[in-house]
Order: sequence, then structure tokens, then C-alpha cells
Amino acid sequence: MPRVFLLSVLGACFLAVVHAWSQGTPVTPGPAFPTSLFSSMYYMPSKPTAEPRPAIPRLGGGWFPDSLNNPTELPSRPPASEAVLPAPLHGTRQVKTLIDDVMNAAHQLVRGGNSSLLCNVCRTGLSTLQTLAHADPELVPGVLTGVCRTLKLFGKTALSDQCALTFDRAMFGGPIAQVMSYGNFSGEAPDATLVCAAATFCERPSEALSDAFLHDWFRGSRAPSKATVARWRAKQARAVADFDASALLPVLHLSDLHVDGRYMVGSESDCTFGETRYCCHSLSANSTLYSKPIKHGTVPRANISAPAGYWGNYTCDAPWSLIGSAMEAIRHVGGKRGYELALFTGDLTVHDDLFRYSHDLVLYSAQALFGALKGVLGRAPVFSTLGNHETSPENFYAPHKLPDGRGHQFDWDSDYLAGLWRSLGWLDADGEQDVRKHYGGFSVSPRHGLRVISMNSDFWYFVNVFNYIHSTNPDLSGMFRFLTDELFEAEARGERVWIMGHVATGWDGSQSLEKPSNLFYQIVSRFAPHTIAAIFFGHTHQDHFSVFYRATSGRSTDAPRHTSGAVTVALNAPSVTPETNVNPSFRVYYVDPHTYDIYDWDQYYTDVDTFAASAHGPVWHHLYNARDTYGDFRASVQDGHVAHVALDGTRWPRGAPLNATFWSALTEEMQARPELMTTFSRLQSRNSSRANACTKQDCRHAVLCYMRSGTAAQGRSCPSGFGSVV
Ligand SMILES: *[C@@H]1O[C@H](CO)[C@@H](O)[C@H](O)[C@H]1NC(C)=O
Ligand SMILES: *[C@@H]1O[C@H](CO)[C@@H](O)[C@H](O)[C@H]1NC(C)=O
Ligand SMILES: *[C@@H]1O[C@H](CO)[C@@H](O)[C@H](O)[C@H]1NC(C)=O
Ligand SMILES: *[C@@H]1O[C@H](CO)[C@@H](O)[C@H](O)[C@H]1NC(C)=O
Ligand SMILES: *[C@@H]1O[C@H](CO)[C@@H](O)[C@H](O)[C@H]1NC(C)=O
Ligand SMILES: *[C@@H]1O[C@H](CO)[C@@H](O)[C@H](O)[C@H]1NC(C)=O
Ligand SMILES: *[C@@H]1O[C@H](CO)[C@@H](O)[C@H](O)[C@H]1NC(C)=O
Repeated sequence: MPRVFLLSVLGACFLAVVHAWSQGTPVTPGPAFPTSLFSSMYYMPSKPTAEPRPAIPRLGGGWFPDSLNNPTELPSRPPASEAVLPAPLHGTRQVKTLIDDVMNAAHQLVRGGNSSLLCNVCRTGLSTLQTLAHADPELVPGVLTGVCRTLKLFGKTALSDQCALTFDRAMFGGPIAQVMSYGNFSGEAPDATLVCAAATFCERPSEALSDAFLHDWFRGSRAPSKATVARWRAKQARAVADFDASALLPVLHLSDLHVDGRYMVGSESDCTFGETRYCCHSLSANSTLYSKPIKHGTVPRANISAPAGYWGNYTCDAPWSLIGSAMEAIRHVGGKRGYELALFTGDLTVHDDLFRYSHDLVLYSAQALFGALKGVLGRAPVFSTLGNHETSPENFYAPHKLPDGRGHQFDWDSDYLAGLWRSLGWLDADGEQDVRKHYGGFSVSPRHGLRVISMNSDFWYFVNVFNYIHSTNPDLSGMFRFLTDELFEAEARGERVWIMGHVATGWDGSQSLEKPSNLFYQIVSRFAPHTIAAIFFGHTHQDHFSVFYRATSGRSTDAPRHTSGAVTVALNAPSVTPETNVNPSFRVYYVDPHTYDIYDWDQYYTDVDTFAASAHGPVWHHLYNARDTYGDFRASVQDGHVAHVALDGTRWPRGAPLNATFWSALTEEMQARPELMTTFSRLQSRNSSRANACTKQDCRHAVLCYMRSGTAAQGRSCPSGFGSVV
């Protein structure tokens, strides 16, 4: 039992200094932590010199331990009991030779040279590692640690042994041993090429999906029927004719909360890579001022260059104080009406050294944050998608098809979330079953005519090593089959669908794998716009969008990316965490109650640069309105374009939604009006003083291309290096 701080005592301390909300009037949630978010605390500071530590009850009984969010108790080793290795296949006596061969390959790769030779060295090395994994999987983590040290994967400056901790059997070591055991690494096997391509030693494999594959995938129905399309056109025309701004539904979109319960006020916020890779923790240090191993768990004040503030820093994840402030601002913006529903596109858990992750850290973050959101949003359901940080080891999720029972090693996660979302009243029994069966994904209809399908994007995320097993199959997990089957049913019922995921399939193409993201593109092309209304992503911490166009072949790169072929748009919501030099932010959409097209949105933010000077903590402002900022097409009009709809003067008509046609036309307008791109890049990081503006021609050219990219191959065909402005 934690020491329980009673709400009634502390509630009285919380004096909210809130102004009546209107655009342009800032909201200041108040100087104290909003204790109403939690009914009990392990620790509640009387002054803002330390972060509060909420005590979180575990679903099914008991409490999450205080050590999960106590800044002075950072875990020093991986959770040994959570390790999963593959089952051994058959022994061999030549283990030593095998290890030597793998190490030799690593040395050759470090030396570099002829690229086609290196590709082969890499593939052969993997094949040898596979023999070892079959003989004795227990040895694989140690070999990987050796390779990590040889390749200096963590650079030269790491004080602690990050290689051993990261490739521990409970962290990357176990999952990679499974990939080595269960993948196909013999001969010219595509799994080997894909792994070596990720390590930049081989060419990336083609994204192409054959006609036969796509024919089977869509069960022969590669296009919607004429009647389906006609029904949609009629509905769309009615929505435009009957447009009523007062009927629009407010929908909250939140992303990337990344609560840091380990945040230590006063610790190093301008850190270099020492005993931890992350700043604002007790073990963070700046090597210019402190260069020895850390004694007594903290760095002396005299050796700290920039002490972490109470409300948060650009270099760190969100402390509880900032999360509390964001929750109050969200409640305030919602006002009496509240939100119709909320979308959360993933990442609740802190960025931390891999080995400081555990099942409990992930579940504690989920229980605490979803519980807090429930308190703030009341009756509005929250639909969520699993981020790459909603699992441990982070980034990984295994397909159910793995042998030896290994396909269910992440059930602890999806089973808990299923129970949690049900207990909060956000999913019914069917939804709960979906979450258990589909890796945290589900399909629900919260309102007549609307369907929300949530996907676990780890199955196209390039870091998830399990995607490298049988990689010629773009859907070993069955995630895309689930999506497609749901879309067929939604189409038959005349529903509009919102698809949610965490990692974007497209944009600069750096985060997703070729074949899975192309399969997603093909599915979207098949079901948009008549069934799919919009797609929602997070992950990059930034505000951006990517337009999806009609696919014309089994390669997404063949799709003509012209506005006339735009079918839907993926909206990437910015983060609440300031980490990566961005300002905390959240979004409110205004949605048509019949077509579920998005008509507009308002974006809110708070400026981290003002935290130190503000007596009352973060002040939240209205940042921009989507239609006001982007709805003017004067350059297109001057050039003789009409922006693909009948404009109202130079403006996008009020009755027309901000759909794919709008976003694609906007990229053309941006081409003609470079200052619009400058605005976009400023908003991308929410006015952050730490961001670079995209003002040069090469940047504009690249970003316009990302805005038209929905797959890895499309994004990678754009100039690289401009995916982020920070
Ligand atoms: C690289 O190695 C390949 C295969 O060993 C060989 O065919 C090719 O000529 C070499 N290229 C260069 C530039 O040395
Ligand atoms: C592994 O890949 C090779 C080369 O593509 C192929 O010939 C072989 O059948 C594959 N083996 C398995 C078990 O899939
Ligand atoms: C901490 O700072 C003091 C004063 O500048 C310096 O003498 C000392 O060497 C520093 N400690 C470490 C471990 O670098
Ligand atoms: C570390 O401290 C020095 C001296 O205060 C400073 O110049 C530097 O920017 C700090 N940060 C890093 C990452 O080195
Ligand atoms: C972190 O925030 C504190 C207080 O606002 C500030 O003094 C410090 O300079 C910030 N650190 C960095 C790296 O910006
Ligand atoms: C977007 O809305 C406009 C106006 O209703 C319509 O003409 C256009 O076809 C729509 N585009 C898509 C992709 O649905
Ligand atoms: C964001 O920055 C722009 C340009 O510096 C400024 O005009 C605007 O007022 C800022 N927005 C808010 C809401 O403070």
C-alpha cells in the first residue's frame, strides 16, 4: 500500500487561475499540481522543487510500486524475468568457430569497402548467427554485445556498458535471437537482405506487390462498386448543401504524452551521453562539467550546466507537472460542451535507456494517463493506438504465428490494455476481444455511421525486429487482414472510417518498411475516399500531413501524385512532450456528424521558453486555426487553377471539408507561395525557438514531396534529411 495523500486536503491547495476561453485568450491552469487527477500520491511536494509522484492502482488489485516513478531509484539492470529466447533446435560443437566467424564479419563491416561485397559479408554473417541461434540461443545476446562494442554502436563516450545492457537477453538480445532462429537467413533469403539493408549494407528490397497477390488480397474486388461510389457522392453532396457549422462535433486529438515520472527537478537538462542517454534524470550529466562515474546517485549542483525546471525542458519528456497542466488546459478548452470523443495516437511512456524499461513501467504509464484522461474527459470515450513505447522491450511486437508459443509473448500488454479500456467504459466486450486478438488494435462504431479502426503500427515500424521474419509476407501478423476485413464490412454498411496508428507509413519514409507500408497504401486506395475519411498518426512529435493518392499498380511509387487523384489524408498530430525541442500541444477537430469529414481544427500550445519566468506555470495559447491559416488559394487562382473545388473568392468554401483534395491543393499553393511553407514549418514545432525554419528551396522541395508520400518507397524517393525541423 502506498502512503495515501487524501484528495480532500490537497484539493483545497489547487487554485486554478483560469480565464474564460476564447481564441487569443491564454489559459493558465494554476501554480499547483492538479491533485484532482489522482486520488492518492506517494509523494506530493509542498513547493515546486520536486515532481509529485501519483500512486496508481493496478487493474485487478494492488498498486504499481513507487520505484517506477521515483527519480532517485532508476533501475540499473534489465528485468531478467521478462526475457524471451527462442527454443533451441539442435546442438553443435563448433560454437566457438561460429562466434569467431560472426565477429570477423563484424570487423569486416567496420572496415568498409566494396558495397556489394559488404552486403554479402553481412548476409553470410547472419546465416552464421542463425546456426548459432539454432544451436544455443542463450549465446546470441553475448555475441550481439560483442558486435555492438566492435561497431561502437553507442559511440565512444558511453561511461556505462550500454552494449551489454541493451543487448541483454531481456532487452534486444532475446528478440533478436528469436528473429535469427525463426527467420530465413539461408542463401539469398530476403530476410537477410532486409536486415542488411536496414544496416545500410545492402540495397533496400522492392516494395512491389504482385497483381495476383492484390487480387487475392481483395478477394477479386479491387475497386468499389458503382453503386457504392454513387451512394457516397450523394451523401457528400448533401453534406455540402446542408452544411451547418454549429452541428460540427469537437474531437480531441492528442499524441505522444511520454510522461516522465523519473524527471528530477534540478538535474542536468543539457546532458551528454554518460550513464544514461537521457537528460533531466538523476544520472544525467554534461561531460564538460562532470566526467567521472556518478557517486551517490546524483551529480553535484556545481557540476550541472542547466538545471531541469519544474515544468519541463525541450530536451526532456513531460514531468507530471506539465502533464497535469496539459490536462487542465484540455478540460478548459473543452468547456461545458466537452468533446464528442478523443483520439490518442500513442506513446505514453518515457523515453529512457532501453534497459530501464519493464512491463510495469509501460502498464503504470497507461493506467495513470488513461485514468487521468478519463477524469478530464468524462463521458467522451478515448480511442487509442499502441505507440512503439507501449511495449517492453520498446519497439517490439511479435506476430501470433511465431512457433513455440512465442507468438503470445506480448499478451501481457494487449490483455492489460483491453481490460483497462473496457473498465474505463471506452470499449464494449467486442472491442475488448479485438484488442486481445489484434495486438491492441480494434474496430468500433462510437456513433451511427462512424467507425474507428485502431492498428498496431509496430508491424510496419522499421525498428520492430519481428518484421524481419518471413519479410516477403507483408502481413505475417494479420494486422492488415483485420483492417481490410473491417473495411469491407464498413463499406457494405455505408460507414465512414477513421484509421489510427502511431508510426506514419509515409512522410519522409524513414520509419516504415517498404512492403507493409505499400500494402497499407493499396488498402487505402481501395477504400478511400468513399469509406476511409481520414488517417491519424503521431510518433514524430511534429505537426504535418501526408496525402494518399489513387494507386495504379502494385508499386506505390507508380501512383500519379496529382490533386485529382487524392483519396485521403494522414494527419500527424504534434506531441504533448517537449522532447526533441518542440512546444507541448493538442488539437481539436470539428467534424461533420454525417460524413465524419474533418472541416477544421484549432491547435493549442504552450511555450517552454516561458516556463522559467512564469509564476503560474505553463500558459496555454491558441496557436492556429487550420482553415484560417491554410484556406486561402490566391496564388492558385492567379495561376488559373481553381484549387479543384469552386472557391469562395480565393478561399476554400465553408461547406467543403478539409479533405485530401484540400491538402493536396495546398501543396500546390505552397509551391507558389513559399512563405506558406515557412508558416507550416514554424507550426510543425509550434513556434519553438529551437526549430529551423524551412525557408530554402531544397527544404521546400523535399517537404512538398513528403506531404505527398504515404509509403516508405514514396518518402524515400524524396530528397532526404528534411523530415524534421528540429
Ligand atoms: C565489388 O565486388 C564485386 C563482387 O565481389 C565485384 O564484382 C565488383 O567488381 C567489385 N567492385 C569494385 C568497385 O571493386
Ligand atoms: C528461404 O529462402 C530461400 C531463398 O529465397 C528459399 O529457397 C527457401 O525455400 C526459404 N526457406 C524457407 C524455410 O522458407
Ligand atoms: C565538478 O566541478 C568541480 C568544480 O568545477 C570540478 O573541480 C570537479 O572536477 C567536477 N567533478 C567532476 C567529477 O568532473
Ligand atoms: C555542457 O556544458 C557546457 C558548459 O556549460 C556547454 O557549453 C554545453 O553546451 C553543455 N552541453 C553539452 C551537450 O555539451
Ligand atoms: C531547462 O529549463 C530551465 C528552467 O526553465 C532552464 O533554466 C534551463 O536552461 C533549461 N535547459 C535547457 C537545456 O534549455
Ligand atoms: C473533398 O471535398 C470536395 C467538396 O465537397 C469534393 O469535391 C471532393 O471530391 C472531396 N475530395 C475527396 C478526396 O473526397
Ligand atoms: C508564434 O510565432 C509567430 C511568429 O514569431 C508570432 O507572430 C505568433 O504570435 C506566435 N503565436 C502565438 C500564439 O504566440
